[in-house]
Amino acid sequence: MKALIQTLTETFGPSGHEDAVRAVIRAQVEPLADEIRVDALGSLIAVKRPVRDGGKKILLAAHMDEIGLIISHVDEKGFLRFTTLGGVPPRTLVGGRVRFLDGTPGVIGGEVLENWDKVHTMEQLFIDIGASGPKDVRVKIGDVAALERPFLDLGKRLVAKSLDDRIGVAVLIETLRQLKMTPHEVYFVFTSREELSSEAGAAAVAFGIEPDLALSVDVTSTGDTPKGHKTDVALGKGPAIRIHDPGVLSDPRIVAWIDQTARKNKIPFQRQVSTFGTTDARAMQASRSGVPVSCLAIPCRYVHTPSEMVDMDDVQNAVKLLVCLLSAPVEI
Ligand code: CO
Ligand code: ZN
Repeated sequence: MKALIQTLTETFGPSGHEDAVRAVIRAQVEPLADEIRVDALGSLIAVKRPVRDGGKKILLAAHMDEIGLIISHVDEKGFLRFTTLGGVPPRTLVGGRVRFLDGTPGVIGGEVLENWDKVHTMEQLFIDIGASGPKDVRVKIGDVAALERPFLDLGKRLVAKSLDDRIGVAVLIETLRQLKMTPHEVYFVFTSREELSSEAGAAAVAFGIEPDLALSVDVTSTGDTPKGHKTDVALGKGPAIRIHDPGVLSDPRIVAWIDQTARKNKIPFQRQVSTFGTTDARAMQASRSGVPVSCLAIPCRYVHTPSEMVDMDDVQNAVKLLVCLLSAPVEI
């Protein structure tokens, strides 16, 4: 699975520009699914048909887009000003590298601050592509760049940019691979545009599929670093269910189903209430006349930085849990 995670995280795919990463995913799921399609907003939908009638229509959504930068101004010397696609903290950017869709690389510089302890605002940062002047600059307003950072294998733990949410993508691919039979009609969906606040990709997908229940499979921040977030979730203690976040209150029946399935199969598992962030579940819950939702999350340190970290045990246990959930009937 590690080789796949490396390819997924190193592939270009800021929100709305998911073509390259979708092609990587498609090559993986095409031989495993009963049907494949791409919708108008670019989400990839892989369907696994049930072995008999009477199951549920279950939607699993992992977003394939990543946070990125979008050019807002090219100055007379060829420096590029930008704003963000999704939530990018400016403190994570200075000295970093980016790459545009056409392959153009660049580095992120900042205006000189009088006080070294101060953090740049987004307006004080720029991308330098090594141009001698504006004539060297092919980058235009509206062009999009992704953060550039190689994948790092630390053994049990992995570090990469865009583990949010390529790790969820990898979990869905592996679940589809391991799921031999299911009584349900399962939609493995790789959504576009999650990092934009509307989660428009998932909204369109849920409307089109009209599922009986839906789960987002995403990452969640941990509290296990020095003076870290106020949450009990830690790396290596199992996948977490986001019971509540500012956008979603999980359906209690889904929470109970996941909790009981994890206990029965002795899969480590964490419960979380998060005071920040949300996932595709937010857009899916209000689709049509309502969809019961929850979020199964892979614990992740340093979310929305170029060096996000996950634990392979959590990844494997998330796959195991999803396979158990999808292999048995569910009453909701
Ligand atoms: Co994110
Ligand atoms: Zn995410």
